[in-house]
Amino acid sequence: MKNIDPTKTFSWKYLKKHFQEIKKITINDLFIQDPNRFNNFSINFENKILFDYSKNIINQKTLSYLINLAKETKCFSSIYSMFYGKKINVTEKKSVLHTALRYNHNILFLKNKEIYNMIDNILKKIKNISNDIILGRWKGYTNKKIKNIINIGIGGSQLGPLMVTETLKEYKNKLNLFFLANIDPIQIINLINQINPEESVFIIASKTFNTQETITNALSIKKWFINHINGDLNKNIFSKHFIAVTNNIDAAIDFGINKKNILPLLSEIGGRFSLWSSIGLIISLSIGFNNFEKLLQGASEMDYHFFSTPLDKNIPIIMALISIWYSNFWNTETEAIIPYCDNMRFLPSYLQQLNMESNGKSIDRNGNKILYQTSPIIWGDVGTNGQHSFFQMLHQGTKIIPCDFIAAAIPYNNKYKDHHLKLISNYIAQTKALAFGNIKNIHKNNIYKFCFGNKPSNSIFLKKITPYNLGLLISFYEHKVFVQGIILNIFSFDQWGVELGKKITNFLVEDINSNIQEKINQYDCSSKGIINFYKNFN
Ligand code: F6P
Repeated sequence: MKNIDPTKTFSWKYLKKHFQEIKKITINDLFIQDPNRFNNFSINFENKILFDYSKNIINQKTLSYLINLAKETKCFSSIYSMFYGKKINVTEKKSVLHTALRYNHNILFLKNKEIYNMIDNILKKIKNISNDIILGRWKGYTNKKIKNIINIGIGGSQLGPLMVTETLKEYKNKLNLFFLANIDPIQIINLINQINPEESVFIIASKTFNTQETITNALSIKKWFINHINGDLNKNIFSKHFIAVTNNIDAAIDFGINKKNILPLLSEIGGRFSLWSSIGLIISLSIGFNNFEKLLQGASEMDYHFFSTPLDKNIPIIMALISIWYSNFWNTETEAIIPYCDNMRFLPSYLQQLNMESNGKSIDRNGNKILYQTSPIIWGDVGTNGQHSFFQMLHQGTKIIPCDFIAAAIPYNNKYKDHHLKLISNYIAQTKALAFGNIKNIHKNNIYKFCFGNKPSNSIFLKKITPYNLGLLISFYEHKVFVQGIILNIFSFDQWGVELGKKITNFLVEDINSNIQEKINQYDCSSKGIINFYKNFN
């Protein structure tokens, strides 16, 4: 990877100048100037996804400067480096291999047979476990069929699988899925009230197998399980109910997991990129292995597009450039993700981790303090619900908030077709209202009703929500985030920032538990005050 400060490029300087010109032009003007704007600023990807970026404050000049920015920052050389397995996760001295988990084309890239053999073996294991449980061949220790699958994991070990299984709910079989992520005791209490251990399989999903929340939850579940079987825990019983997905095999064995129930997770797969790996076991359990494979294949097709398509037709690259355009030249701070699909309600939180954990950095790849914007704040909620809460601000507030509107042209099923038509009409109406406003049609005395428009959005329209198309969509966002990281000259695949909080938490647990006031007195006065308030009641 080349470490180029984007602000030192010619394109950045041209973009700064260009911004002064284009800021006087509205989206409405841009549509009048170019009657062919939709064709010029949209990409129909194999009739599977329509990506319309015409309702942005950009013209051909903007686009060509942005594309030059990608060229000047040697974007493609970094993309090749990832696919060919170069150690682009420099601060952890690792390659970045999530694309190798996806089928077909990847064979062309990475020339490491050992890795592919490992991936194949993991996939076989996912397939066998999924089939055994789904078909009722895997029985609990009292010979009951398994009804409940509980994923114990947090961050990337939860958000991807949760988002995918919810989005693909219509493909789901009869197994009940539960996600135990939070350390808040109320979550485990609610969970154990709903499940019979004899009919449950617990997947401890943790790359490191030392994440405090996950291990605390897993130990409590183990204790509860042992209690249920009156302490008679032998290996045979345990292996019918506990599986681990991890890169830390020894820790999983120490926990008591049978070796044959441990699914390895390559250390080169980052947590937020891990749903394609053994972390996806719960996905395969929920929708069946064939559908899980289709998810991988969809992602693989987008990988191929990303790897092989010229910059000006490359969906993830254009998305990334548009995002950089707003955050660094328009000084926008946030981006909203608004799926017009109720089952996609976890997409905003999934993308929050993907973007903000990857690119929430302030030191560049040369070790210098960054003086430009890196990750936008990602937030959002489903349409149409959001229209009745935060949309007021999108339309009439003082901030510009670029939005991604996501929907599917064909509904999950044909019942209530009129609902779907209304849903899609809302989806289109909002992008139109945001872009063009209403001032032409409102009398000037009605100033409070003015919507000035000029609020940008991308429309991402899937043909249908299928495992394959969801794979395309997720891979497209993954690559968008990667390209932003390349151009912004940051390391996107580490997350050192979250470590400090973890460390302080561990000290706090110890110090509060010790009940030694001198230890508490060493804290800053705010933290001390809060600790003392807590101690009053505990
Ligand atoms: O704390 C952040 C993080 O490291 C994420 O990147 C990761 O997805 C999550 O914690 C969970 O980590 P693990 O899978 O190792 O338990």
